[in-house]
Amino acid sequence: HGTSKINSSGHLEIGGCDTVDLKQTYGTPLYIMDEALIRQRCREYMDAFRASGLPFQVAYASKAFCVKAMCRLVDDEGLSLDVVSEGELYTALQAGFPADRIHFHGNNKTPEELEMAISAQIGCFVVDNFIEMQMLQALAEEKNVSVNILLRVTPGVEAHTHEYISTGQTDSKFGFDIGNGSAFEAVKQASGSRNLKLLGLHSHIGSQIFEVDGFQLAVSRVAEFSLEVKRELNVTFKVINLGGGFGIRYTEGDTPLAVAEYVKAITDAVKKFFAEDYPQLPEIWVEPGRSIVGDAGTTLYTVGTSKDIPGVRKYVAVDGGMTDNPRPALYESKYEAMLANRGLDRAEETVSIAGKCCESGDMLIWDLELPKVNSGDLLAVSCTGAYNYSMASNYNRIRRPAVVFVQNGHSDLVVRRESFEDITACDLVPERIAKQPS
Ligand code: LLP
Repeated sequence: HGTSKINSSGHLEIGGCDTVDLKQTYGTPLYIMDEALIRQRCREYMDAFRASGLPFQVAYASKAFCVKAMCRLVDDEGLSLDVVSEGELYTALQAGFPADRIHFHGNNKTPEELEMAISAQIGCFVVDNFIEMQMLQALAEEKNVSVNILLRVTPGVEAHTHEYISTGQTDSKFGFDIGNGSAFEAVKQASGSRNLKLLGLHSHIGSQIFEVDGFQLAVSRVAEFSLEVKRELNVTFKVINLGGGFGIRYTEGDTPLAVAEYVKAITDAVKKFFAEDYPQLPEIWVEPGRSIVGDAGTTLYTVGTSKDIPGVRKYVAVDGGMTDNPRPALYESKYEAMLANRGLDRAEETVSIAGKCCESGDMLIWDLELPKVNSGDLLAVSCTGAYNYSMASNYNRIRRPAVVFVQNGHSDLVVRRESFEDITACDLVPERIAKQPS
């Protein structure tokens, strides 16, 4: 998919770059991002919304992959940006991302984070709870500014997805409940706050969702609540944010819809459920993360050791693992992979791909069909663009890999590989321990 193909040397090529050359230049493990595919996904969202005729914003959920080059690219494509911490906000500002198109999320924003975001004059805060609302009001008053907010509500919709990544159901740490009156109370408070400008509501029902019915149900719940609020409080919303969660194809078993189909389902539902009693159809915002960058990423590893247990299983180990891709260990996520240096060879054996961490759970793929694997072969795992680099760790003091953007036969480093110095950069040794024994 994307710009990937097997070239005449039988090597995997992405963005016109031979992966065997990329290994020579940058080493492994290496995250390779297909820039054209990221841009294509951004455009699919923008085009689908334009076709709907509704006013909109598409905010890339930077938690999926947040580095300065990515923020620049997203700005270049005209999207907005969703951040959830001071670190993501800092990255975006460093990259020169326009503050007025930054939206700030999170269920426990600290006073420092709120201050930083107010000072930067970001476009919108997605307020999650009453304590945050009071804190934000007080800080805005102190600075004598008015800040835009959305209220995050839990519409009571459960997405059909892995339970660790469902966030829309009632028993969730996020947001104000529509069902028990807390969302109503929040609207009342927010609309009466002098320094908060209530733009509307936010709902996010989960991640890696394949159907549209969850989104349609969320829209209907949010619309029903909006009408109630209009009736009872005479408050109308300018913006409805439906969050992210649009699924992608990691393996053959996954059946996501096209971006345009998700967008059409949402915008149609908004037209249907808001139409009658609403003065003006609200502006629709969404926050896709995974579906912008997920399938654009490929991780390139070098095969090292292997262990064949006759009649049981053959383990093949690569030079990365749960430190660069924690998703299999965390969520039992499935991935596909191929030998990047032998793209034309036929599958001959079934192997399981292990990482190099000192932990049995550090497995990337179980039962993968590959040509007879040798030490030194290159393994390319696909669909690693989202929640891989952004969730990478230094467990076992393994250095985080480099990230390259590839396009039109060019590769550009966007994150350099961590150095040994980086590994100990934050370490301090107290004087009394530092003394060498005499
Ligand atoms: N908006 C909100 C409020 C969110 O909580 C999320 C994801 C998104 C947008 C973007 O969702 P996406 O379009 O990427 O599905 N680490 C997990 C995924 C956690 C998602 C958390 N929130 C994983 O690796 O699957």
